[in-house]
Amino acid sequence: MNYAFAALFYSAAAILVAGLAAKIAQYARVPAPLKIPTTPAPMTRTGVVWRMLREVALFESLYRANKWIWLFGWLFHAALALVLVRHLRYFTEPVWDVVVIAQPFGVYAGFAMLAGLGGLWARRFLVERIRYISTVSDHLMLALFVAIAASGLAMKYVAHTDVVAVKVFMLGLLAFEIQPLPADPLVLVHLALVALLMAIFPASKLLHAPGVFFSPTRNQADDAREVRHVTAWAK
Ligand code: HEM
Repeated sequence: MNYAFAALFYSAAAILVAGLAAKIAQYARVPAPLKIPTTPAPMTRTGVVWRMLREVALFESLYRANKWIWLFGWLFHAALALVLVRHLRYFTEPVWDVVVIAQPFGVYAGFAMLAGLGGLWARRFLVERIRYISTVSDHLMLALFVAIAASGLAMKYVAHTDVVAVKVFMLGLLAFEIQPLPADPLVLVHLALVALLMAIFPASKLLHAPGVFFSPTRNQADDAREVRHVTAWAK
């Protein structure tokens, strides 16, 4: 079992890193021949950096577009970020101060994450227009996140696992030494689903995370009247 999970994580990590690198290289090569920033847009690079920061941290354009999707979407992503920060304790020794401070909030973030996912999923059933355009993969991605969060919370509140042993296993993987993993069903399910998430990431809609940085409507300055725009391949 230890070797099976170690092999699972090494393969999933390899697919994630190689797949993501290939996708990002592909995005970086796509030509952007036209100036198409969504206006009103900043006129300088510094302004673009600020706009992108607001987009990534607050989902500004989604807020303008749809308040309900923004509420549930932002709740899910902010909670996910906190949960991931809290999880850094399994990969670091000594644990960083910021990770220690995040611990108590991280637990509630697990519930907030489920609430956000619940709202996003409900909308795919309840809003007719969204139900019509929802694909099987949209539902499966939500189900995967719900299952990861539910198995994590179940470990915390229903059937505990030996978190110290989980940490020893994870630190072992980072040092290429296979350590024993607790054989509790919940931890095995949680970790197997996380490995699945890592492996499908580079072929899924989750690519919107790196993709937002390559979106011409967001990353271009509105300076077409000041600077002649010539795309790299046209020079
Ligand atoms: C290899 C990576 C991971 C490991 C080793 C891991 C391990 C764990 C463990 C041991 C717990 C129980 C904590 C406790 O009993 O105090 C837990 C909880 C949880 N996990 Fe993970 N997990 C991993 C990745 C993830 C990912 C990627 C997500 C989200 C997509 C996630 C979501 C959660 C949630 C929501 C909880 C409950 C709240 C909390 O305790 O923070 N986990 N995880």
